[in-house]
Amino acid sequence: MAAETTNVENVARALKQVAEDGNKFMNNDSAAREKLVASARELVLAAETPVESLLWNIWALPTRTVAARIAVDLKIFETAVENGGCPKSNEDLAAVTGASPMLVKRISRACVSMGMLVEQGPDLYVPNRMTKLLATKEYAAGIIFCFDITQLSFAKLPAYLRSTSLQNPENALDGPFQYATDSPSAFTWLIQHPDVFEAFHGYVHALRQHLPSWTDMYPVQSRLVEGLKPDGDASALVDVGGGTGQILQDFCNDVPQYAGRLILQEIPEVIAAAAGRGVGADGRIELQTHDFFTPQPIRGARAYFMRSVLHDWPDEQCRKILAQLKDAMEPGYSKILISDCVVSDQQAAWQHISLDLYMMAQVSSRERTEREWRALIDGCGLEVTGIYNKGDGNEGLIEVIKSA
Ligand SMILES: C[S@@+](CC[C@H](N)C(=O)[O-])C[C@H]1O[C@@H](n2cnc3c(N)ncnc32)[C@H](O)[C@@H]1O
Repeated sequence: MAAETTNVENVARALKQVAEDGNKFMNNDSAAREKLVASARELVLAAETPVESLLWNIWALPTRTVAARIAVDLKIFETAVENGGCPKSNEDLAAVTGASPMLVKRISRACVSMGMLVEQGPDLYVPNRMTKLLATKEYAAGIIFCFDITQLSFAKLPAYLRSTSLQNPENALDGPFQYATDSPSAFTWLIQHPDVFEAFHGYVHALRQHLPSWTDMYPVQSRLVEGLKPDGDASALVDVGGGTGQILQDFCNDVPQYAGRLILQEIPEVIAAAAGRGVGADGRIELQTHDFFTPQPIRGARAYFMRSVLHDWPDEQCRKILAQLKDAMEPGYSKILISDCVVSDQQAAWQHISLDLYMMAQVSSRERTEREWRALIDGCGLEVTGIYNKGDGNEGLIEVIKSA
């Protein structure tokens, strides 16, 4: 009984918080939306019994991930939005792929429980906002990527950790991913699986459209544009490990006044994919094959930008990447700009916690706290000159210089 009394008090407190945050949100305080989501989650936790919470986490969540992945293969989302999103039966949804209507029924109702589809009547479905999102290739790609590559190593992660007497994975060349697959690294695996490779680059770009851009949080005008040397390598913004070029394309649109060179550096397969997407066709963005563990060919650039690059590597490899950049930098002029999560020491955001475990399983790496970033960067003889952030759970921007 005592436990039930406590539970009622907790629910009352959580409800009050939801009401407060909800009122702020409805009174046009847009920053209150995230707080409202967090407090609504707290309310659910307070109202659930511990066993219900446990089953939600270990029973419901994993089955949802696999159901969403099967729904993509069944083309449920694309089909649901066809013909103006008119109501469709299991048979209608199954006809496109020739799947069994019974399979479609079982997966469709799982999609309904995830808010990805609406059940208008028995066995009759209509799309909602999330269906429409998932009907587009880039967003469905998120489901493909998050399942196809990450489940490989998550499935074996506990066994791998037991095999190391429960040590923190820190070896990029011999970690959970190598234990779970016969591939030398997640990057190699991606190249060997072109569909997932395509899904990865499409989805990271699509997601970025919904997050604050690094140029929203970093004073680009005063830190990069002013004082820019007009010609040659010194004028360059180099996107190191820049993926298929969308970050530089966005930069062109967001900061049109940046007159220097824009250079995308990547491994050959990704440079080929960027060229295939037309990046660099108009000459504004230069494509350059470069391995960031080797000497940096662009010397004394205005900035070397890296987004989601260092979080892919344990400290040992990060030090090597940073050493190559340090060697190329002009003191007092060049900057390294690191766009990555800066995890709170306490009450870390759920996004950071999730990404951190992805990094552990895929690449034996981790998301870093401010203290860990500073220790890594100071240890390379470089100096952190600013950490910029916008919103809990997003990526921050760390500015680094080489002292004279
Ligand atoms: C997580 S992705 C980030 C891509 C891009 N910066 C973004 O945020 O969309 C990491 C990138 O590092 C690239 N990469 C891995 N090893 C590399 C190396 N040795 N040299 C250059 N790039 C590399 C990968 O091809 C991949 O595109």
